[in-house]
Amino acid sequence: MAIQITANGFRLDTAHTSYFLERVAGDYLAHTYYGARIGADSALHLIPTYFQNYNAYPADFEGAEASVCLQTLPQEYGTTGGADFRTAPILIRHTDGSATLDLRYESYRLFDGTPDFDAMPFPYQNEGEDVDTLEVTLVDAPSGVRAVLGYTVFEEKDIIVRYTRVQNGGDGAVRLCRVASAQLDFVRADFDFIHLYGAWAQERQISRRPLAQGKQGFASLRGTSSHNHSPFFVLCDHTATETAGDAYGVHLMYSGCHETTVERSVYEDTRAQIGIASDSFEWTLCAGQSFTAPAAILAYSEAGLGGMSRRLHTFIRENICPAQWKGKPRPILINNWEATYFNFDEEKLLSIARAAAPLGIELFVMDDGWFGHRTSDNCSLGDWTPDRTRLPLGVSHLAAEVVQSGMQFGIWVEPEMISEDSDLFCAHPEYRIAIPGRAPTVARHQYVLDFTRTEVIDCIWAQLKDLLSSAPITYVKWDMNRALTDAYSSSLPPARQGEFLHRYVLGVYDLMGRLTREFPHVLLENCSGGGGRFDCGMLRFSPQIWCSDDTDAQERVCIQYGTSLGFPVSSMGSHVSAVPNHQTWRSISFDTRAKIAMNGTFGYELNVNALSEEERAQIPAQCAYFRAHADLIQNGDLYRLCSPYESDRFAAWAYASADKKELLLFAYQSKGHANPVDLFLTLPADPSLTYTDEEGVTCGGDTLAHAGVRVHFGFGDHLAKTLYFSAKE
Ligand code: GLA
Repeated sequence: MAIQITANGFRLDTAHTSYFLERVAGDYLAHTYYGARIGADSALHLIPTYFQNYNAYPADFEGAEASVCLQTLPQEYGTTGGADFRTAPILIRHTDGSATLDLRYESYRLFDGTPDFDAMPFPYQNEGEDVDTLEVTLVDAPSGVRAVLGYTVFEEKDIIVRYTRVQNGGDGAVRLCRVASAQLDFVRADFDFIHLYGAWAQERQISRRPLAQGKQGFASLRGTSSHNHSPFFVLCDHTATETAGDAYGVHLMYSGCHETTVERSVYEDTRAQIGIASDSFEWTLCAGQSFTAPAAILAYSEAGLGGMSRRLHTFIRENICPAQWKGKPRPILINNWEATYFNFDEEKLLSIARAAAPLGIELFVMDDGWFGHRTSDNCSLGDWTPDRTRLPLGVSHLAAEVVQSGMQFGIWVEPEMISEDSDLFCAHPEYRIAIPGRAPTVARHQYVLDFTRTEVIDCIWAQLKDLLSSAPITYVKWDMNRALTDAYSSSLPPARQGEFLHRYVLGVYDLMGRLTREFPHVLLENCSGGGGRFDCGMLRFSPQIWCSDDTDAQERVCIQYGTSLGFPVSSMGSHVSAVPNHQTWRSISFDTRAKIAMNGTFGYELNVNALSEEERAQIPAQCAYFRAHADLIQNGDLYRLCSPYESDRFAAWAYASADKKELLLFAYQSKGHANPVDLFLTLPADPSLTYTDEEGVTCGGDTLAHAGVRVHFGFGDHLAKTLYFSAKE
């Protein structure tokens, strides 16, 4: 049983981890332990019981105050305005304007499976999988406000999904101004803090630093999870490596504004919180109403960052990404964006498709520019009907021709947007997000639709439904090319405008839900100016996300390596593009570009007709190599072996099948030197097996695991190599 009631509270066990919640003096709910699985029933001995000088205590502690000090007690969910002066996970303005919230244990509820999570994405349970949920209710007795803390335990996956529901059991309306989805308190502070930061064309770079005194953290206030900061963080030992050390990884399953705060207190404890960004959030809770914050996904591993990532990868692949794509091969695609930009017509697209089909490419994707009268990015968003000058016979004819050539057909849309120069804007200018009396901020000449309004979503849904029903479309690239600004909806009263950004995200989930339910055969790939909305919320609808608009192989090594800290390789959209690269102007060989792009969903984003004969001739072998190893790459276990963030010469990683009978190594030399040196790597091999490489040479798994392999690049920059090993019994 994954959840047990103990003398003082609860223990949650997964196959390899334990998590303890225990009641202490005054019925506060302490978080006493999270880490490797232990047998003890209590970890109360770990909490400090001495009273720190110059601190406060609740009135009912008078005389016994030394039993527990709220300032240093590791808590499941901190209190506000009382004797705990650390960052509060929750801020509520009561009807009288005060904000104190003294949350104490009230009750619990246990049930099988996952909770009903209304309109928000939540991981799912697979058939035969043991999943149990514990809900613990804390109450602030004077106000009647409750915090229901949820813990859904995916036992075999070593994952705990947390959620928080705030209920107003009082008489009047209260304002919820901050609500963390999860708080993790630790009785130690000797952690490194890792998170993924970036910008357009530079997503998910790794930042690692020792926790400093005080608060540190990051946020996105862009309305989306953003290029700037992923809703994901790691706390690990200072000494944690890829293979050893405590590592805690936490994802927020959310696609809007988010924040993470980690506070190292003067008493050398740590409080980490993740949730919706409080700077741009406020929610009115009338009497009897409740608010559910997005889910947070927790993974712990004592096998360092590698162990932590692999737990998250498996979970995201098997319990978050849509079930119909689980373990299924994804099509090798060709996308026309970098090949043509806005300059295309049906003939040009078909010439690319017809040249690509015989090479082993399986899906043709028509990108931006096919609708309205869109010859540049300054018009037509909102009008999802074909431009008859480019596609005289419509999308259906083009799609049929592509299918005839032997490929599947996919299409680009940007459903959340509106251009001023569009039929939709002429008919419904009020669908655009704008604050009356203010000129709305513009980005890429476009504006955002008010997805807090059902009639707006209905209008776009009607168009998308027509489009997807009109042609044999099996893939949709859903783009979102600007940040949200001017948060305001004419449908919300003034007191509820602070709800806008969260309601917007719920609107996006609504439309994505309609699309994926009605067209389950359609493979949805998310995109937001590249990888600007790469999060577990989006992954619930689309198993793959365009990782970055930067398709340069050198940059992609860093972007994809960084992304892999929290996200599986199967989620990373990655293509081979033309050189000089359109983002960096760097020229890297066709072979290297393909080898790097294979570490993802794999595809091409170029005009095959513009390639040299020699390059074009490489495509069939590249596709065949990827097809042969796609299952291992996308569903195997990833082992990061050499970090481009630590080495100025090399990067390397390997995939191993669950039984370790297959190993595939990718190694990369970014910079050559006058005195070349080789890269030595040990592989995640099973020492008891005997492996054979692609040349038929055999080698013991013990040798591969302990002595390793030598990868020789020699002279030259931007070189990639692969080594494949397979083992028989
Ligand atoms: C974004 C995407 C690109 C492409 C363009 C089209 O930038 O990331 O891949 O689809 O939009 O406008």
